Amino acid sequence: MKIKSKHYQTIWELNESVIQVIDQRHLPHQLVIENLKSSSDFEAAIRDMHVRGAPLIGATAAYGIYIACLEAFKSPDFDAYLSKAADRLKATRPTAVDLFNLIDRCLLQIGKKTDAKQKIKVALEEARSICQEIKDHCYNIGLHGVSIIEELYASKQEPINILTHCNAGWFATIDYGTATAPIYEAHKRGIPVHVWVDETRPRNQGARLTAYELGQEGIPHTIIADNTGGLLMQKQRVDLVIVGSDRTTRTGDVANKIGTYLKALAAYDNNVPFYAALPESSFDWSLRDGVQEIPIEERSSDEVKYMGGLDNEGKMNSVLICPPESPALNYGFDVTPSKYVTGIITERGVCAANESAILALYPEKISL
Ligand code: MRU
Repeated sequence: MKIKSKHYQTIWELNESVIQVIDQRHLPHQLVIENLKSSSDFEAAIRDMHVRGAPLIGATAAYGIYIACLEAFKSPDFDAYLSKAADRLKATRPTAVDLFNLIDRCLLQIGKKTDAKQKIKVALEEARSICQEIKDHCYNIGLHGVSIIEELYASKQEPINILTHCNAGWFATIDYGTATAPIYEAHKRGIPVHVWVDETRPRNQGARLTAYELGQEGIPHTIIADNTGGLLMQKQRVDLVIVGSDRTTRTGDVANKIGTYLKALAAYDNNVPFYAALPESSFDWSLRDGVQEIPIEERSSDEVKYMGGLDNEGKMNSVLICPPESPALNYGFDVTPSKYVTGIITERGVCAANESAILALYPEKISL
């Protein structure tokens, strides 16, 4: 995807001991590239949201495991060092299951080797193949999801208005995005689309990141305050909702950025199709009841009480927006039960949000 017409991914290798990422905290005002050189750099980058979005969190952790292997090589006990580093990486954020799925996948491959140099080699290969796979999966989500937009356009013959929440765009993945991939594909095919971008308080990933990447790709869009979607749906100004997911159960319950559930309820009440777009790495095959079982991240109340942005002098600044003594509560995610989800868009196809339809796409997961 493009920034000022230059092609970027969200993460790449500078060399075999330095991994570079876009530090997303500064966007859209500054493009800051960060070097990650130690496993603690990776922990901080994920925990403090320099990188964010479920697939990218998982890909970054995979490179973190590789860098931890380089560190483990210099330690007295390779396996013990790596296992502690993996636990620390897993402790950074609780909701996005890609973090756990992809770290475990790396550890499984590394565990097949006995020689330390071979372990390092396999760790690097696995991180590379995870990044490539996320990219391919997102591209294929676009190819499958575009048919939903094409169908709507065939009957409406007017620009299709799509509402999205948070950033499930290329900033949340390696490239293309999940929720945005069908939108980019539709745009490429000449279907007129317009995107309603929920600002997504408190960290404003919609206003800061989704609006920015849609703008860079030349896609018409409008930022709306988080509470606007319901009104727009009642006024038939939303044809389709597409969101991403941080963790989806095998039964089709979808955890995504806080506020997604309310959009799903409004969509349900107004007969607006509501889709979640996600790659395989965002499924949690061990869970059946998302509302009861998905761990919900709680972040600092300061994220609610302060807002950051560019001040009049062009400097990044943060301001207090409430009485300093008022407490605030900051849950990062909510769960939309499958009954409100019209369908799930995956790299293998689009399916209904229920266990048998999902497992028909992923038959190898039946026995898990
Ligand atoms: O807290 P974040 O920014 O990591 O959360 C990301 C999201 O919730 C996105 O909406 C998303 O859909 C999951 S990543 C494609």
